[in-house]
Amino acid sequence: MKKIKAVIPAAGFGTRFLPLTKAQPKEMLPVVNKPTIQWVIEEAVDAGITEIAIITGTHKQAIENHFKPIEKLEKALEKAGKIKELGEIRKVNELANLEFIIQEEQKGLGHAILCAEDFVGDNPFAVLLGDTICTGNPNCTKGLVDIFTNKKASIFSVEEIKPEETHRYGIVSGKEIERGLMLVDDLVEKPDSKEAPSLLGIQGRYIFTPDLFDYQRSIKRGAGGEIQLTDAIRLMLSDYPVAGYLYEGKKFDCGSKEGYVNAITYLAKDILDN
Ligand code: UTP
Repeated sequence: MKKIKAVIPAAGFGTRFLPLTKAQPKEMLPVVNKPTIQWVIEEAVDAGITEIAIITGTHKQAIENHFKPIEKLEKALEKAGKIKELGEIRKVNELANLEFIIQEEQKGLGHAILCAEDFVGDNPFAVLLGDTICTGNPNCTKGLVDIFTNKKASIFSVEEIKPEETHRYGIVSGKEIERGLMLVDDLVEKPDSKEAPSLLGIQGRYIFTPDLFDYQRSIKRGAGGEIQLTDAIRLMLSDYPVAGYLYEGKKFDCGSKEGYVNAITYLAKDILDN
């Protein structure tokens, strides 16, 4: 099987978190000791993925800067004998092979993924939302990689949500084929609770065969005036099996104030206790 690559969309405007995200990318907000996007990249690396594209915007240069060596800082740390700190920042520079791709216009998640088509080529690829932290052991992406390697079918993680939350999620329906694994038969982007086919929401982690691009290219603007990933997956369903994986770890949408605060509270406990 060809190597799985990863695409991390991080080019959105982050309007839910304004004014904080006016000049500061939401993916760069600190979650205890590192920015959100570093948690996300580390999840991909822990799942064995090292070729990673970050989709970013011209207004979000801070993301790329965080992962670039800063010679002046390294020299200063070396001179001051701050070897531990030097190790910490070098580790960030060397996390993975990162490629930064600019999404010129914020046309939606599906469009952001299309920007990575050349990078992905004919490899399977994971998508990890750059503003969403998942915890658990094995981590969510690792769980998906293991199932993908075995079944060779596109797959994404889902979580159980409350009826009043359906308008914030892509909602799926399907039948369970193994414990915690379903064959998806339909999905709807951000429905009202009355129209939602289930209470299983797409969580922000996916692995696709490269066929996804054939469908994504034909998708026009949909819900919220954006080019949606969900619409492409929906089209793909008529030709390919797509699986849903019920992930039981925690997920924090750090693009919302509530998710961000919960992430810090939860992850600080872990880090400060160790
Ligand atoms: P969101 O829908 O949460 O991001 O997309 P957003 O549009 O920035 O959010 P709000 O609603 O305005 O607050 C999930 C991920 O996809 C990226 C975002 O940066 C986020 O990490 N994204 C979204 C893009 O890369 N490009 C887009 O056009 C939209």
